[in-house]
Amino acid sequence: MRILSGIQPSGALHLGNYFGMMQPAIALQEKGDAFYFIADYHSMTSLFDANERRKNTLDVALDFLACGLDPKKSVFFRQSDVPEVCELAWILSTLTPMSMLEKAHSFKDKSAKGIPINHGLFAYPVLMAADILIYDSNVVPVGQDQKQHVEMTRDIAVKFNEAYGETFVIPEPQVKGETAKVPGLDGEKMSKSYGNTLEIFGEEKPLQKKVMSIKMDSRTPTEPKPDADMNLAVQLLKLVEIKSFSEAVEDKLRNGQIGYGDLKKQLFKSYWEYFTEARKKRAELAANLDYVNSVLADGASKARTLAQKVLHRARKNCGLE
Ligand code: ADP
Ligand code: TRP
Repeated sequence: MRILSGIQPSGALHLGNYFGMMQPAIALQEKGDAFYFIADYHSMTSLFDANERRKNTLDVALDFLACGLDPKKSVFFRQSDVPEVCELAWILSTLTPMSMLEKAHSFKDKSAKGIPINHGLFAYPVLMAADILIYDSNVVPVGQDQKQHVEMTRDIAVKFNEAYGETFVIPEPQVKGETAKVPGLDGEKMSKSYGNTLEIFGEEKPLQKKVMSIKMDSRTPTEPKPDADMNLAVQLLKLVEIKSFSEAVEDKLRNGQIGYGDLKKQLFKSYWEYFTEARKKRAELAANLDYVNSVLADGASKARTLAQKVLHRARKNCGLE
């Protein structure tokens, strides 16, 4: 079974990225042949600063390795080290109906927020389809927001196979129910582009300040809160604490035995401790960038070999060879 996923180097990685995609991806590296990459081509649709892209790319590499991606078990690489995906994206674009792309949430959400839409953003799902299909991927672990893209990939692959004969493996998205959509500090989906994130790695004081500034209603500490399960801090606490502990805190809130200030202090403590080991590992990796770069180079060479094989199959079947 081939497993594949990607993450954009468009800003510091956060709890949504971690619980929605990285943790499931890291768990899956035990179960099959895993390919994970840093989607630097995709980041070009929304980030226009070259140095920032370079820095973010290295940060994503450090973050992912620190969180447990094991280069002995997974192929880990930079998307742009396999330029063959761009050729495949072109080929696939000729089979992609405009009407399909017009339905994509990725571009519709950004457009609704008034962000100018470039062609790359509109064609984003086609490049993503190329990423997935070029490695004969079976399973794609992603958060809820990316499910539609994987479904489009399936449709495009079926169209190609119908037009030119059996070529591509049809992939399945894997979305984990409980962490499919991690809420951000404002209660909306946590996202690098919405400025509502809690980063996996960052400075202690600013992160603490962010947690303490989560907005709550004006009920006093002793007032019972029957809607405790809807509380944002409780929802985040459930991600970073064992079940019995977070449920006990939720009960206290329900019964008016804990105030919002103490709840947020607990959330920060649990969240900070959750990543203690990873933080240590990240510091070690940051002091050994030669190793990190060698992991990416090795991953690129393995990924490229496979990509060239699948691209050759596609080129032959559609009459380019
Ligand atoms: P962002 O929205 O912050 O730019 P990306 O689009 O780079 O994040 O997403 C990388 C991966 O993390 C994708 O699989 C995406 O589904 C997942 N992800 C991002 N935000 C969340 C979230 N709030 N909850 C669950 N998964 C998320
Ligand atoms: N679009 C994904 C995101 O923003 C990143 C990505 C690019 C990806 N290509 C992919 C994810 C292929 C899975 C498979 O999160």
